[in-house]
Amino acid sequence: MKLTFIGTGYVGLVSGVMMSYLGHQVTCIDVDENKINQLNNGLIPIYEPNLETYINICKNRNALSFQHNYENLSDQDAFFITVGTPTTPSGRANLSGVYKAIDSILQVANDQALIIIKSTVPPGSSLAIQEYIYSKGSDIKLANNPEFLREGSAVVDFLIPDRVVIGISNPSSANKIKDMYRVMINGQSASLLDLDANDDRVYKANHEIITDLTQYRKKNNLSPTPDFVVTDLTTSEMIKYASNSFLATKIAFINEMSDLCENTGANIKDLSFAVGLDRRIGSCFLKAGPGFGGSCFPKDIVALQNIYREKNTDSLILDAVIKANKSRPTKMVRKIKNLLGHLDGKQIAILGLTYKAGTDDFRNSPALEIIDILKKEGAKVRVFDPMGSKIIDYVDNLRKIPNIAGHEIHIESYQSERIVDLEEICDDAYEACSKANAAVFLTEWVQFEKLDFIEIKKSLKDPLIIDLRLFLDADKVKKAGLNYHTIGS
Ligand code: UDX
Repeated sequence: MKLTFIGTGYVGLVSGVMMSYLGHQVTCIDVDENKINQLNNGLIPIYEPNLETYINICKNRNALSFQHNYENLSDQDAFFITVGTPTTPSGRANLSGVYKAIDSILQVANDQALIIIKSTVPPGSSLAIQEYIYSKGSDIKLANNPEFLREGSAVVDFLIPDRVVIGISNPSSANKIKDMYRVMINGQSASLLDLDANDDRVYKANHEIITDLTQYRKKNNLSPTPDFVVTDLTTSEMIKYASNSFLATKIAFINEMSDLCENTGANIKDLSFAVGLDRRIGSCFLKAGPGFGGSCFPKDIVALQNIYREKNTDSLILDAVIKANKSRPTKMVRKIKNLLGHLDGKQIAILGLTYKAGTDDFRNSPALEIIDILKKEGAKVRVFDPMGSKIIDYVDNLRKIPNIAGHEIHIESYQSERIVDLEEICDDAYEACSKANAAVFLTEWVQFEKLDFIEIKKSLKDPLIIDLRLFLDADKVKKAGLNYHTIGS
């Protein structure tokens, strides 16, 4: 089938490329001409492991193209909308990008084409958009197909979903969309993926090669094929919000359990493991940390809270999750302060700035909040993140824009923007630790587990390691002569 994806961000680029990989002819569009030029020149604007492999495979098949306009799209079978839906200060999701895309599609689409909303939109939005399409004199049908991709594992999450959810306004749309996902639903071997298992270009998922989706699923104790859920537009929208909100709730819960463990002398690692063994609970998203961030959880739970308000419905649990997560950075700083005695004048090494390992995304990262509070309490920070060069590039690009002065980078954060002062960004962990009173690990990058902690000790002024991600090997750190503190014990 011929599919167009509008918006080449973390969701649109991955979804478009992977749909191409499943055998469709895909055109990816973005209003940002620079992004399209980068993609046409083989540059990938986001960090997503192994995505480049797939882009090259699909480009070599002439099954994937990138363009900045809506030309030559009258033969498309479907248009996926994958543009951003940022939360406005009022808490409402901003759908202007979605409507702009709809207007552009209606100019070029044939009457049989489907429009499929993949962006996260509040319940009721798709119904309103379908009415908007009719009001423009078009009979084009709308569907809703939420994504459940995690940054850093989006390619695997796309290829090996637990379920594909489709919301439709017209029964005939279901089969057309099922056909798009045929490869996954019927289970396929490498032949359909047209790839030789020995082909070294083939995707390496966690150092494995995925050439047979069904085999990979069975090997990972998953059902041979994903479930395919067809429902109405509004329920499909709600499924996305409910999924993200529940995952955020799980994290907020285990973080609160971690605090109690610290006060009872229990051990959060053993607690999380044992609780997660209960099949009704599951071990995923039970890892305590500095709080959840990213471009989805913080945005989606506030947008959902806003919908509860608009519908005069209590959201007591969601309110508590939002409040608990917002308070987490302050709790982390209090822990650091208790270990240091005071913060004023202290030099602190911050290891990890992205909102989690495996991504170059800093949006709503707890690290930004924690750094902000530390500095307000008089501490000096030096930061290292494996993706730190992304910040440097980002600011360098900014500098090319007239009247962007200075060395500050503004990153979307919980309530406003957070400033990262470039002078604080170091080239490696050892430099960040130089003469520091403590090294605080905020993101669970594998690179940090491999650090030479004897060298880290030499760099530090005081031998103090604070692991707020519960991921370092405590014995290895202590053997290097360092004091090791973490959360939840
Ligand atoms: C999330 C959802 O998982 C995904 O289904 C949805 O499509 C988009 O939003 P993402 O934000 O990319 O994906 O990352 P995820 O891996 O879910 O982590 C979100 C936040 O929760 C990160 O800050 C992470 O550090 C934190 N987290 C996650 C924990 O603190 N503990 C955990 O056990 C898991």
